[in-house]
Amino acid sequence: MRRLLLGLGFTAAILIVPIKAADTAHLSIDASKAGAKIDRNVFGQFAENLGHGLNEGIWVGPDSPIPNTRGIRNDVVTALRALQVPNVRWPGGCFADEYHWRKGVGPAGQRPATLNSAWGGVVDTNSFGTDEFMDFLQQIGSQAYVSLNVASGTPQEAAEWLEYMTAAQPTALAKERVANGHPAPYKIDFLGIGNESWGCGGDMTADQYLSQLKVYSHFVRNDNPSQRDANQMLKIAVGPGVAETEWTETIMKAWQHHDWTWNMDGLSLHWYTTPNGWPPSTPSIGFGVDEYGKTLKSTLFMDEFLRKQETVMDKYDPEKKIALVVDEWGAWHVALPGTNKDFLIQQNSLRDAILASLNLNIFARHADRVRMANIAQMINVLQSMILTDKEKMVLTPTYYVFELYVPFQDATFVPVAFDAGTYKQGDVTLPRLDAVAARDRSGKLWIEITNLDPEKPVGIEAALTGIMAKSAKAQTLTAPAVSSINTFDAPHVVEPKPLPVQVQGGKLVLQVEPKSVTVVSVEQ
Ligand code: AHR
Repeated sequence: MRRLLLGLGFTAAILIVPIKAADTAHLSIDASKAGAKIDRNVFGQFAENLGHGLNEGIWVGPDSPIPNTRGIRNDVVTALRALQVPNVRWPGGCFADEYHWRKGVGPAGQRPATLNSAWGGVVDTNSFGTDEFMDFLQQIGSQAYVSLNVASGTPQEAAEWLEYMTAAQPTALAKERVANGHPAPYKIDFLGIGNESWGCGGDMTADQYLSQLKVYSHFVRNDNPSQRDANQMLKIAVGPGVAETEWTETIMKAWQHHDWTWNMDGLSLHWYTTPNGWPPSTPSIGFGVDEYGKTLKSTLFMDEFLRKQETVMDKYDPEKKIALVVDEWGAWHVALPGTNKDFLIQQNSLRDAILASLNLNIFARHADRVRMANIAQMINVLQSMILTDKEKMVLTPTYYVFELYVPFQDATFVPVAFDAGTYKQGDVTLPRLDAVAARDRSGKLWIEITNLDPEKPVGIEAALTGIMAKSAKAQTLTAPAVSSINTFDAPHVVEPKPLPVQVQGGKLVLQVEPKSVTVVSVEQ
């Protein structure tokens, strides 16, 4: 018999028991207990120059009949603003290690056409370059996470890129930026030093990468005066993409003994949900509950993956100075039939929404170390927020999960103890429930409850201490089937709706629907 006690001591100890009273789960939340801050950067996104992620998804050009502001789609900007996207990682991914920034600045007509060799060898007009990315960030109100080209670029090229973006003094590169219409230096909040350097980013050993990291960390500087003392740019080193810890050992051990010549603030981690291994083979449409169960089982491995890396990080960095940055995560399904397989186009179902909530809850329970994450990817690629087709746009179930979780940005983790119960699907056994809680900056308590069971609703009785609850409100995301999707023709199939919730004698009482993601806010 296992019991699920999440957040005790502010780390997660996962134990599961069957729910005792038939279909009622008892949650216990002490709102006076505060854990780590759930950094808003955990809700970051990833926009790679891949398929229709940038071109068509964000960028349509100023002459397009699709309503746009300086070439950037207005519908997409409006939708993303509602998510309060904290940071956007760009330009890759594998593409980053093939990107030469100079080709993407200057007058549009004078930019060279190049091949996107990382993703399908298609022609790239370089219309969406550095200044357009910064404009996009400004329009959606987000921060820059720029990935450097370490494998096929040079430290000099990277240093000049940063000078172009951030220098306030009248250097030749700063003057070039001014001539391109951007007098003020840009703020770069996060700098990725390479991408998957053990794979598409140069196939290096950890030691080979380490010598690159030292050079790039030292010579690639942020010259923006406003980032000199406060708001400094955080440097993120390439981390592992497998559960084994050798890579993390090498980088963290070196960091423990680092001197003034180099530093890093974060270590990245990439892990996708691919239940049948590599290459991805799960369909993103028309699947059943077996596929659903397997996918959720696989996604829950994220917790173990993080623990393994954290154990090593704690050894070399007990003060948790270095953030673990999960800058690629999400479901990677097989490409939709009839699409270019190099464009990684997949639909997005209620299953993906539940998968997203489970991962966000895992990140919340690891909030003391996981301080940034980027779902892959933002638009039209992998587990995206938004799908577009010419002038049409649809918001995915995953979009709505990110919307429901906005109150958790920078909120303080509050431990929840509960009996999760079990849900069995074929030979897969899963917890039936998941839950997290947090207090936002105003002190308001928020609770998220995921019901993984696709058949059974679950009654919830949540005992609250440390707070005098007066009333509560809830929103829930569910749909007729785990494979339900939103399409251009039927865009409202999977959308949040209000759910009744009562406060009775210091308890919250509600019933969560099968296969649902529910967020409750408590008024005191
Ligand atoms: O997100 C798609 C690709 O997956 C990225 O380009 C790469 O970093 C990862 O392997």
